[in-house]
Amino acid sequence: MATVEFRQVSRIYDPERPPAVNRFHLDIPDGEFLVLVGPSGCGKSTTLRLLAGLEPIDEGQILIDGQDVSETRARDRDVAMVFQSYALYPNMTARQNMSFALENQKVDKSIIAERVEKATRMLELEDLIDKKPSAMSGGQRQRVAMGRAIVRHPKVFLMDEPLSNLDAKLRVSTRAQIAALQRELGATTVYVTHDQTEAMTLGDRVCVLKDGVIQQVDVPMTLYESPGNTFVATFIGSPAMTLMDGVSVIDGRATLGEGHPLDLGLSRENAAKLTSDKLIIGVRPENWEIVAVNEDTPAKVATVPLEVAIVEHLGVEQYAYCTPVMSPDSPIGVRGERVTVRAGKNSVKQGDRLHVRPALGGVVFFDPETEINLDYL
Ligand SMILES: Nc1ncnc2c1ncn2[C@@H]1O[C@H](COP(=O)(O)OP(=O)(O)OP(=O)(O)O)[C@@H](O)[C@H]1O
Ligand SMILES: [Mg+2]
Repeated sequence: MATVEFRQVSRIYDPERPPAVNRFHLDIPDGEFLVLVGPSGCGKSTTLRLLAGLEPIDEGQILIDGQDVSETRARDRDVAMVFQSYALYPNMTARQNMSFALENQKVDKSIIAERVEKATRMLELEDLIDKKPSAMSGGQRQRVAMGRAIVRHPKVFLMDEPLSNLDAKLRVSTRAQIAALQRELGATTVYVTHDQTEAMTLGDRVCVLKDGVIQQVDVPMTLYESPGNTFVATFIGSPAMTLMDGVSVIDGRATLGEGHPLDLGLSRENAAKLTSDKLIIGVRPENWEIVAVNEDTPAKVATVPLEVAIVEHLGVEQYAYCTPVMSPDSPIGVRGERVTVRAGKNSVKQGDRLHVRPALGGVVFFDPETEINLDYL
């Protein structure tokens, strides 16, 4: 098993454009399950391929177990990669697919048999072991592809969207299997996905990438509760956090609502970091408190007026996607013109008027210039 260190690593395909991976700097401790997440084209696969040695590094270094492998050939790095397309050999059985790389390395036959047998048990492939890929489902093929990586006993596992070809249900069950397997193997793993739910459920830590640049690396709960900037705030969490621009700060207090300002609980330390009298606030759907439905809000209670555009029923809960109905001269702008509110047990329907306010402690504050969470400045 191994540690992985990225030292200011860049990959520049086109000198006229920003690097695909831009000064990527990260330490991955032994045994960690690190998830790289971000939108399409942000450089996830490229980062993984740099670590695998499938792509040359233009700047910086990569170390595996303290050894600089930047110039080491892929096959000498002792990493195993599982791709989105399973890339199994179609004319070989599951057993042959798993054994093939080890046979090429002239590993002792009894050792190969032992490892394949163990992987077969771990991945519950007993019934498939003598079948060819064409006779397997997508999920089964993906498990064979995992088995093929496991039997190699690599220092580091790399997985690039291994579940994206599976249907939703199978994705959830295979996800749980991957998590259990990684715990059992204790192997350092770097896992790429664009799916934030997958990232949050699998990762010991999650690294959020945008345009080749790391935005934040932390444990899932911290990304959720204390996102480093507005990008992470809206990328992590579903439905997404609502962002509001132009919220005023008066006498060091962030206030919202007309007539009766609502104190949002901006701390004195954070107020002192501001260079303007406006800021951006973020509120998660569960942090909106519904004060009134289809009736006027009690006098002297400051609220945000909304109209329900769509209600999404998810069984255990429901979300109301609302349009803000603030007066046209309000300085506050809601990003995407959408406020998402978890409606809980309130029955709300399309066209309802809601008055909401953020729950105490449920507001994240961002600097209006840099869009960085004030807690991190
Ligand atoms: N071989 C290449 N030549 C030139 N540009 C490339 C090459 N490979 C990737 N890129 C560019 O580098 C950027 C990062 O690509 P990459 O494949 O790493 O993204 P990704 O995060 O894996 O996206 P996705 O979620 O769509 O798989 C993209 O802008 C892409 O167009
Ligand atoms: Mg990719």
